[in-house]
Amino acid sequence: MENIKNITILTGAGISAESGISTFRDQNGLWENHEIEDVATPEGFQRNPELVYKFYNQRRFQLSQDNIVPNPAHMALAKLEREFSGSVLVITQNVDDLHERAGQKNLIHMHGELMKMRCVASNKIYKAPNFFDGDTPCPCCQEAGNLRPHIVWFGEMPFQMDKIQSELLNSDLFLSIGTSALVYPASIFYRWAAQGGAKTIELNLESTVASDRFDENFQGKASELVPGFVEDLLSGNISPEVS
Ligand code: OAD
Repeated sequence: MENIKNITILTGAGISAESGISTFRDQNGLWENHEIEDVATPEGFQRNPELVYKFYNQRRFQLSQDNIVPNPAHMALAKLEREFSGSVLVITQNVDDLHERAGQKNLIHMHGELMKMRCVASNKIYKAPNFFDGDTPCPCCQEAGNLRPHIVWFGEMPFQMDKIQSELLNSDLFLSIGTSALVYPASIFYRWAAQGGAKTIELNLESTVASDRFDENFQGKASELVPGFVEDLLSGNISPEVS
C-alpha cells in the first residue's frame, strides 16, 4: 500500500469521558446506576415511558451545561478532517454532540443523538427541547406520547449500517478510540476494516476484549493520545503497512 487515503474512526464513550460525560461500563458508569433493560430498550420504554424520558432529559440537561465542552481528542479529530489530504469519517457510538461542536463534519451517529427526538408515527426527526415527555405534543401529528428520544436502544438496528460497512471495507486505516468493544455491531468494525485491507489501531485507556485483534494498540487518555497521534498522521509518520 502506498499511502493512507481513507481513514475511518470509531469513537466511544471514552473520548467524551474527559469532557465530563460518564462512560457506560467504568466505575460509576451509567450502567452501574441503571438497569439497561429499563432505560435503553423498547420494552423498557413501553413499560415505563416516564422513567425513560426522565433518564434522557437528565442526560440532555447535563450535556447543555457550560462546563461540558469538546476536549483535545475531539478537537484533534476535527483538525485531522480539515487538514488530511484524504478522507476522514468518524463513526461515533456517542449520543452527545461534542464531535460536531469540535467541528467534525463527516460524522455518523450510529446510536442516535441526545439532542434530537423522533415521532414514532411519522419517523420525522426534530431538534429536542431541553425537556420533553409523554405529555409533549408532537410537532407533526400534535399527538402527545408520539415522541421518543432519537436513540438506538438495545434490540434496535444502529443507523446507516450499509454506509458504515462499505466505508470500513474501503478504508486504509481504522482507528478505534475510547470504546470497550463490547457492543455489537461496533465491536466487529475492526474486522470489516481488516477485511478491506486496512491497518487497525486501538487507542484506549486500557486494553479491551478486542485489543489482541488490532494491528497496534496505544493505551492512555484520549485527550493525551489522540492529538499526538493526529500530528503523526498529518506529518506522514504513521505507516499504512502492518508491521
Ligand atoms: P464503555 O463504557 O463500554 O467503554 C468506554 C471505554 O472507554 C472503556 O474501555 C474505558 O477504558 C475507555 N475510557 C475511559 N476513559 C477514557 C479516556 N479518558 N480516554 C480513553 N479511553 C477511556 O462505552 P462504549 O464502548 O462507548 O450504546 O459503549 C458502547 C455502547 O454501549 C454505547 O454507545 C451505549 C452503551 O450501551 C447504547 O446505548 C445503544
